[in-house]
Amino acid sequence: MIILGIETSCDETAAAVLQKTGKQIKILSNVVASSATLQAKYGGVIPEQAAREQLRSIIPVIQEALTSAFKSTSSSKISNFKFQISKIDAIAVTYGPGLIGSLLVGVETAKTLALTWNKPLIPVNHLLGHFYANWITSTHLPGAQAHLEGVPKFPCIGLLVSGGHTDLVLFEDYNKYKYLGGTRDDAAGECFDKCARLLGLPYPGGPQIAKLAQTGNPDKFILPIPMRESKDFDFSYSGLKTAVANLIKETGKLSQQEKADLASSIEQTIVTSLIDKVVLAIQHYNIDQIMVAGGVAANQRLKEELESRVKSQGKKIKLHIPPPELCTDNAAMIASAAFFLNPIKNPVILQANPNLSL
Ligand code: KG4
Ligand code: ZN
Repeated sequence: MIILGIETSCDETAAAVLQKTGKQIKILSNVVASSATLQAKYGGVIPEQAAREQLRSIIPVIQEALTSAFKSTSSSKISNFKFQISKIDAIAVTYGPGLIGSLLVGVETAKTLALTWNKPLIPVNHLLGHFYANWITSTHLPGAQAHLEGVPKFPCIGLLVSGGHTDLVLFEDYNKYKYLGGTRDDAAGECFDKCARLLGLPYPGGPQIAKLAQTGNPDKFILPIPMRESKDFDFSYSGLKTAVANLIKETGKLSQQEKADLASSIEQTIVTSLIDKVVLAIQHYNIDQIMVAGGVAANQRLKEELESRVKSQGKKIKLHIPPPELCTDNAAMIASAAFFLNPIKNPVILQANPNLSL
């Protein structure tokens, strides 16, 4: 089974081709184009600008994904294209949540391709898609791990940490999960982005804070760990952002070292608050499998500290985190999820849903 995945929920335009053989899911191609230079210039994503960029790049990105997945020997572009299309068994597309203009670009393109190529269309919830990056077992991509060992087993605690969502769920089976808790205000990624802005760092802030934090001391500035005392599975990050804003106001102009120290404290505080709730959940439900997904899962400190907290639990717990390039938005995770979902009966009626939740 070979699936072409399409993802355009935020500012990325992404297409990927994945193949499932038995339990193995392999990436044949994975293309992501983002308007990163525009984001850095304007300090974030401007929805209409993002959608315009996506309209321009969607077809070239899909063509590149197909061309790099299937090497063809013919010199004719048309027969190459026919050959590539003939290899695809289904098309998967993100239909929400996200920016409506951006989602429409992917959804309408996927519907058109499914109808003209006569292929089944599989709609994928972007949030669920993030988790399925953990089921990708191998990739030919340069620089990526040759084989990612062991996919998650059920029951499994899932933590989704992205720019717009922070959710904790208990997966009982594929696509069958119980919602345990989520953020009451800002998402973890959003907090990284807002704090980065306060420190004068460009968007997206998570990788910038992580980089600066490497030379900082997390104990120089003490920040409150959100929701530490609450015994539920909820998160909250708007108070942390306000604490950082107040601290900067009180301290005045920060030296480069102070900025690094503060970045380190912010990163440490977010990481600790996330891990606290994951540990609470595995203890409460007596679970030995954890999977993390979403852009913030690319954070190295989160990975290292989660590994060491999990080890200190005494029993053998398996931790699954995708490689960094599969944590941030991509179409490979959408195609991967589609292997476990059903096609829509009538592609024409598929509608983008910007407010979709888990
Ligand atoms: O999943 P994602 O790519 O897009 C959404 O669905 O939102 O997540 C983007 C978020 C941004 O807030 C970004 O700052 C954060 O993930 N992020 C990171 C890192 N890489 C991306 N946060 C912390 N450390 C990172 N290395
Ligand atoms: Zn995402």
